Amino acid sequence: MKHILSDFDLSTEEVTKVLQISQKIKSSPTKYMKALEGKTLLMLFELASLRTRISFEAGMTQLGGHAIFYGVSEGGFSRTETLADGVKVLSRYGDCLMVRILKQEAMEQIGAAATVPVINGMTEKYHPCQNLADMMTIQEKKGNLEGLKIAYVGDGGCNTAASTIIGCTSMGMNVSIVCPDKPEYSPAPELLEKVKDNKGTVTVTHDPSEGVKDADVIYTDVWVSAGMEAEKEARLKLFQPYQVNMDLVKKAKQDCIVMHCLPAHREEELTSEVMDSSQSVVVDQAENRMHVQKGLLYWLLK
Ligand code: CP
Repeated sequence: MKHILSDFDLSTEEVTKVLQISQKIKSSPTKYMKALEGKTLLMLFELASLRTRISFEAGMTQLGGHAIFYGVSEGGFSRTETLADGVKVLSRYGDCLMVRILKQEAMEQIGAAATVPVINGMTEKYHPCQNLADMMTIQEKKGNLEGLKIAYVGDGGCNTAASTIIGCTSMGMNVSIVCPDKPEYSPAPELLEKVKDNKGTVTVTHDPSEGVKDADVIYTDVWVSAGMEAEKEARLKLFQPYQVNMDLVKKAKQDCIVMHCLPAHREEELTSEVMDSSQSVVVDQAENRMHVQKGLLYWLLK
């Protein structure tokens, strides 16, 4: 039994395998229509979602299995019993748990108590399924991953930045973090220490032009997430120099693709001109959430 509680739970070889299976299922979906027949995925959500919820549920249906949604705030579970007590019981009902919960610590507790595989559907620290979908998309668009440069522009201390750093460097990509000169918006030193022996490198710069130079991929994410409303004005001002607009995109390679995990805040972290341009792959990237999660579920459960 294997959990994916963070990107660190997948080795380079395992990511390669999951991406291969995902591509195989994507290209011949009918062959896998009964692959997970009789299997149930339990989806626990503490935070809102469009893509993660629907792509997991649709993916499970397409593999012949079934998915059940449970909003953690609906009652029961963590409010009236410990997480561990609830998770032990849920492990008797389903074949896999997919969990979106704020605290990574809670995710680790769930992993410790579960007797079926647990998949991290996002915490404040990591978003591994997003990174798998991102790498599947880059591989499709560029033909390979190793040796490519991905410039992550914006909040370098957030969960998608962390997952990009871990996943992409483990696959030999070079990650350029382009962020404000403040420790809270930069990658944590412990994280950089943990990936220092990976095949790909990480550089941190506060200069957007320097950071995207020769980039094959520009990646951004929202500047103001749910729960950060009090910091909104300050964040919008601080991150403004890091907006992904056409002037910035032109400083990368001519065939650079632009990615965003969505939902996007148009005219904040990226302009509509960029998001709707031929260089933007954001919709293909969101579609691949479903394909890569089908591959992951198949790999974990079959
Ligand atoms: N990218 C992503 O995780 O989207 P949702 O928050 O809609 O699930």
